[in-house]
This record gives sequence, structure tokens and C-alpha cells, in this order.
Amino acid sequence: DWSMAAYREEAIAKIRGQVGDGRVICGLSGGVDSAVAAVLIHEAIGDQLTCVFVDHGLMRKDEARQVVDLFRGHYNIPLVHVDASDMFLAALQGVEDPEAKRKVIGRLFIDVFDDEAQKVGGADFLAQGTLYPDVIESVSFSGGPSVTIKSHHNVGGLPERMNMKLVEPLRELFKDEVRALGRELGLPEAFVGRHPFPGPGLAIRCPGEVTREKLDVLRQADAIYLDEIRKAGLYDAIWQAFAVLLPVRTVGVMGDGRTYENVLALRAVTSVDGMTADFYPFDMNFLGRAATRIINEVRGVNRVVYDVTSKPPGTIEWE
Ligand code: XMP
Repeated sequence: DWSMAAYREEAIAKIRGQVGDGRVICGLSGGVDSAVAAVLIHEAIGDQLTCVFVDHGLMRKDEARQVVDLFRGHYNIPLVHVDASDMFLAALQGVEDPEAKRKVIGRLFIDVFDDEAQKVGGADFLAQGTLYPDVIESVSFSGGPSVTIKSHHNVGGLPERMNMKLVEPLRELFKDEVRALGRELGLPEAFVGRHPFPGPGLAIRCPGEVTREKLDVLRQADAIYLDEIRKAGLYDAIWQAFAVLLPVRTVGVMGDGRTYENVLALRAVTSVDGMTADFYPFDMNFLGRAATRIINEVRGVNRVVYDVTSKPPGTIEWE
């Protein structure tokens, strides 16, 4: 892609100009954006960059491992991997409100990241994979009083406290452009094509209190749903697909027995930038297949529903 090859060169020159011989620390979230930012910055300044991956334990099945493999194995970029899942679960105990969850996760993320940054000797710059839509959506909507729909924890907070300047090489890009840049930088297709994943992770896909047990159930069901989507060849046609574990139990019947377990909602949307979205019109056979597998294979779920709300009026995530 010609335009991305040019963008890559420009961005590298810009990063070198901004950073000079300073030290940069980059927080990896496990997603595409921060990974592309890190690889680009590494190409620009090499070992002046340190990557820190704070693993909050709220990722999907296998995703944390894939990030570590990509950086250490594929690129040989030094990476500090902190398993902080116990701390995050403890901090989330009793927290039910969606914005409160984001605040708890955002604050703890900053604390853990800050500690790790001190351990590696600090840095002059903080790199983030902030995209253009993040910039708009977390600030406000124009016209009338400003309203923040959801606070995105990857913007703000950290640089002031750590007295660092920001390096945000993706700030002018939309998601599809970040993917093109990732391909240009040689990131594996399976990684570049990944659906977006929110910073607070599965915590905002478990309405109500987040527990380890709920996360385990959600992770299993989510993996089966995505597996069926891939098998049906639909993954790339969808912007985001995920499961939500509802805090509602319903009665069911399995074999000779009565069950009383949770409802799982499936969500899939198409979108260009996440700002608006349409629910994905699966055929009913697909939904039936996914539901049957989930109920048969995951203990703790006995009913599956599909979300047919577009954005607006819904948001993509349930919280
Ligand atoms: P909503 O649910 O607001 O989501 O329609 C739009 C896009 O943003 C993601 N999202 C988040 N990303 N921190 C993030 O980094 C968050 O708190 C957050 N909340 C939503 C969502 O997955 C979708 O891609």
C-alpha cells in the first residue's frame, strides 16, 4: 500500500524528531492499536523503547499469550509482562457500575504501569496507540452541553502524573488505516485483523460484579462464539463480535434435569469507526448452531439470546 508506506516513513521521521535520544515507554493493551504504535516506534528508535504489558486478567482466551509471543518471538522487542490479574479482581470486588469499573481499572492500570516504569528507570515519553475516534469520543459531542458517554481509560491521567510527554503516532488514523499500517509493518494478518477490544476488557461484558467464575464462563462461551464465526467465514465481515454474560438466571431443561443458570447474550456489529454501528444479520441457522454449542459445552449458561440493537440508540458494548 503506497500511502501507508509513505505514512510509515513520515511517522518514523516525526517520532525521531520528537524523541531525540530520549527514552520512551509504551503500554501494550493486547490490542492492535498499541501493538502497531509500539512496532512503529521500535522501528524509529530501537532500544530507546521499552514496552510494558500490564495484564489485567480481563482479556479473552489466549489473547495475552499471543501478544507476548508476537513481541518476544516475532519481533524480538523487549517486553515487560506483568500478571496483575489478582490485583484487578480484588479491586473490582463489589463494583457494579460501568463507569466505576472503568475508573477502578483505569486507576489501577496507572498505578501498576507507573511502578513498572520506575523499575525500568523511567522515561521521558509515554507512547500510546490513541486513534482519532478515541480523541473525539472521549472528549465530548459538539452541540449543546458536552456529554461523555463512556470514559476511555487509554486517554489522559498517566502523562501528567509521571511527568512525561506523549507520543501518539496513530492520533490521526482510523481503525482501517491502523490495520493497513500494521500490515505495512509486517504484523501477522491474524493479529492485524483482530476485532477491537475495549481497555476494561471482559469486565464491561459481565454486567454487575465481576468475579473469576463469571470471567471463566464468559471466556469459554466467547471463544466458542468466535470459533463458529471464523468457521462460517464471517470474522472479517464483522467489526466486533463478543458475548456478554447476563446476571439473570433462567430455568431450562437438560436430559432429565431442570437447570437454573445464566443467560448469555451474543453481539456482533458492522461499523466503519465504532462511532455508529449496525447489528450483524446472521442467518438463524448460524445462531442456532452457536447457541447449541455454547449451552452444551459451557457449564453455567442455559440460554442464549442475540442482540439486534444498532448504535445509536445502543452502544456497541453493553456497559
Ligand atoms: P461503545 O460501546 O461506546 O464502543 O459503542 C465503541 C468502541 O469503543 C470500545 N470501548 C472502549 N474502548 N475503553 C476502550 O479502550 C473503554 O472503556 C471502552 N468502552 C467501549 C468498544 O469496544 C467499541 O469498539
